[in-house]
Amino acid sequence: MKLLLIGSGGREHALAWKLSQSSHVEQILVIPGNPGIAQVPKCQCTDLALDDLQKVADFAEENSVDLTVVGPEATLVAGIADIFRSRGLPIFGPDKAAAELEGSKAFSKRLMQKYHIPTAAFQVCTDLETAKAFITEHGAPIVVKADGLAAGKGVVVAMTVKEALDAVTEMMADHKFGSAGASVVLEEFMDGEEASLLAFTDGKIVIPMIASQDHKRVNDGDEGPNTGGMGAYAPAPVMTETLRIKAVETILKPVIAALNKEGRTYCGCLYAGLMIKGDTIKVVEFNCRFGDPETQVVLPLLDSDLAQIMLACATGTLDVSMVQWKQQAAVCVILASGGYPASYPKGLPITGLDEVDAMEDVMVFHAGTKTVDGRIVTNGGRVLGVTALGADIRAAQEKAYAAVGKIHFDGEHHRTDIAWRALARAEEKR
Ligand code: AMP
Ligand code: GLY
Repeated sequence: MKLLLIGSGGREHALAWKLSQSSHVEQILVIPGNPGIAQVPKCQCTDLALDDLQKVADFAEENSVDLTVVGPEATLVAGIADIFRSRGLPIFGPDKAAAELEGSKAFSKRLMQKYHIPTAAFQVCTDLETAKAFITEHGAPIVVKADGLAAGKGVVVAMTVKEALDAVTEMMADHKFGSAGASVVLEEFMDGEEASLLAFTDGKIVIPMIASQDHKRVNDGDEGPNTGGMGAYAPAPVMTETLRIKAVETILKPVIAALNKEGRTYCGCLYAGLMIKGDTIKVVEFNCRFGDPETQVVLPLLDSDLAQIMLACATGTLDVSMVQWKQQAAVCVILASGGYPASYPKGLPITGLDEVDAMEDVMVFHAGTKTVDGRIVTNGGRVLGVTALGADIRAAQEKAYAAVGKIHFDGEHHRTDIAWRALARAEEKR
């Protein structure tokens, strides 16, 4: 098989790494890729613009690509899958109508409401005055969400009415997120512990992956501002087997069925961000693609051929027997640039990568790097994701941090407590 992979982050590096292990895969063309992906066997990066998706389809046709895999949501929401399917090109990822599940929070919330999928109570507002009146009436805490895509920054969990009023004003009057904030979702605040449950689906059957947990705050103890994710681990013990079955039966399967009923067949990876409290599970959000950094811990635990699974999703032939998991744990620590998530320098040389390369069961996924004169330098807020596998979370965590200790660049920052909730839970049980 010849594959085309779209994207350039740590998630796509993990996808490339896992796909390249398939004996069915001869070559992986990547648009645009990154320096880490360029080193993955079978991968060849190409710098083609993603703004003209017909040209991307031309490229796939010219290169006789058998399957295209799309990483980022923006490309899916823009309708890449519709273009590819209309030209008979197999693609892993939902079409525009199904990707609205992530592309419009108002659509997603209304769908959940219509089909009784558990989620927080909400109100969609399309004008500022109504939004302000609703907030004043309901009080805080309250969650303000821009309807459209805002690169993960469109959610404000407001602990005071003032914060909420400021947030809607920024979104609706100051157009902080452009048209994405023209309407907002005001949502009841949910208390609990979050987990991410990703699933493969061909639009007919849904196969959950291993539950994982992301660490969104920049500092240890989940303190400081939100980031794109400072690390992740899997499996997440908060998601017990009972809860996982409940999530599949009351959330994942119903939402795929609901989309089908609405004439929006969904193929690809479905990401459910879930809030767990006791034995209740509610949806925080749906994403129409793999999570980042969750992918960097979930895929290393996959014991099956990812290319075959993805082709089956794209061709409506997915079967439960295709997806097996390793009985291990994975921890991923993100190495970020000093200053992130605010402004940070770029172009700083990274050392120690070769040494970590030699370590067994350790993978370094590139998120924000660049090659300059043959050397790898920093080029983003989140620079690298260091993932390690181990017999359990503690073993994986120890190995991940041993690897992290070998990598250096000026100002490098990482959290030292990735997976703390799993370890605290294990401690409690003893
Ligand atoms: P989202 O982009 O919808 O996942 O929101 C980003 C983050 O905001 C989530 O991962 C949660 O930590 C938080 N969040 C979103 N909605 C709620 C809610 N209704 N209650 C509490 N926290 C929330
Ligand atoms: N880790 C959160 C996301 O991928 O949206």
